[in-house]
Amino acid sequence: MAKYNFDEYIERRNTSSMKWDLMGERFGDPDLLPYWVADMDFKSPPEVIEAIEEKLKHGVLGYPVVKESLIESIVNWEKVRHGWSFDKSAVTWAPGVVGGLAFAIEAYTKPGDGIILQTPAYPPFYEIIETAGRHVVKNPLKRENGRFVMDLDGLEKLLTPTCRTLIFCSPHNPVSRVWTKDELEKLAELAVRKDILILSDEIHQDIVFSDAKHTCLATLPGMDKRTLTYIAPSKTFNLAGLSSSVVVIPDSSLMEQYKSVLVRFHLSRLNAMGLVAMEAAYTKCADWADEMVAYLEGNRDYAEKFVRERMPKAKMDHPEGTYIFWIDFRGYGFDGKTLPEFLAKEAKVALNKGLDFGSEGDGFARLNVGTTRKQLAEGLERIAEALNRTGKN
Ligand SMILES: Cc1ncc(COP(=O)(O)O)c(C=O)c1O
Repeated sequence: MAKYNFDEYIERRNTSSMKWDLMGERFGDPDLLPYWVADMDFKSPPEVIEAIEEKLKHGVLGYPVVKESLIESIVNWEKVRHGWSFDKSAVTWAPGVVGGLAFAIEAYTKPGDGIILQTPAYPPFYEIIETAGRHVVKNPLKRENGRFVMDLDGLEKLLTPTCRTLIFCSPHNPVSRVWTKDELEKLAELAVRKDILILSDEIHQDIVFSDAKHTCLATLPGMDKRTLTYIAPSKTFNLAGLSSSVVVIPDSSLMEQYKSVLVRFHLSRLNAMGLVAMEAAYTKCADWADEMVAYLEGNRDYAEKFVRERMPKAKMDHPEGTYIFWIDFRGYGFDGKTLPEFLAKEAKVALNKGLDFGSEGDGFARLNVGTTRKQLAEGLERIAEALNRTGKN
């Protein structure tokens, strides 16, 4: 019997929501239906809301301190959900996963260094590399048996003394791959052999469908010494607005370097509400996470069937995890310029533009299914209807 209702529509317009209130500015029309920014239209778990209410009732919002019990809740979550054990001393913080990646760029690389991305890649990865005076070195994903896979031979060829850091996305945004253990073992073997430092962004690790399994990269032999793992309650429990993320760094020397950046920018301070919400989420909300992922799996199945049947010239690989899916619209003759125009002007929907993820995204769009089934259906109907109306289908 389901305990939570993910079918409930919650009005988010005029609530300072980036996804709902920034469409006028970004897409030129505030009245589109949004399937872009990666948050979900669901309320956060009631246990999290209650914990925040409790804190507010007390009413004093001064400087917080991290409680042992919070760190234990993180260690325990990773152990129970992902079979990954690490010491409490491996836990540190970031105001967001992207911020934490930027601190690592500062800590371990120098201006002019190359940083590798497996493209197409989440747009802020490019921004934090380029604005830090480093440069993006692309290791594009390859196509194999109808899905995206890593090009490890290509990766090996890119490595030099000034290009040995990889921002790794697992599960992968935007291609929705949950890397298999076998694929990760091959990456790990290369990383150990060639001394690669891996910034493993596992923010989507809890959102994995029943036909896939996430493996934390740091659990593989030799990887705890060369991996920073980024996790957060932000995607799993829809808490991105609380800017509270976790970085797990089992190697003490890497930890020291990371912390030196936090000290330099005086960023060790944390958000009082974020801490309260995180501990409630990791201790009380496993059932909510399970139900939410099952609901998203239903959305995955719905979207897959819809694309197959109603947009036959579009292609979407079978999404294995995340709630952001990568759709190839090139079969309709669209490119990186005409597709966003069509989606906004003809279909009246806001999807992320493929080109923002790199040149590999030409003719692609990223669809966020983290919403009610009804709203997902409405967005897909709008696209199919516009394809029919314009004679493309
Ligand atoms: C792979 C990935 N990393 C990081 C983020 C954002 O993390 P944060 O808001 O904690 O910076 C997202 C959000 O969509 C993401 O998909």
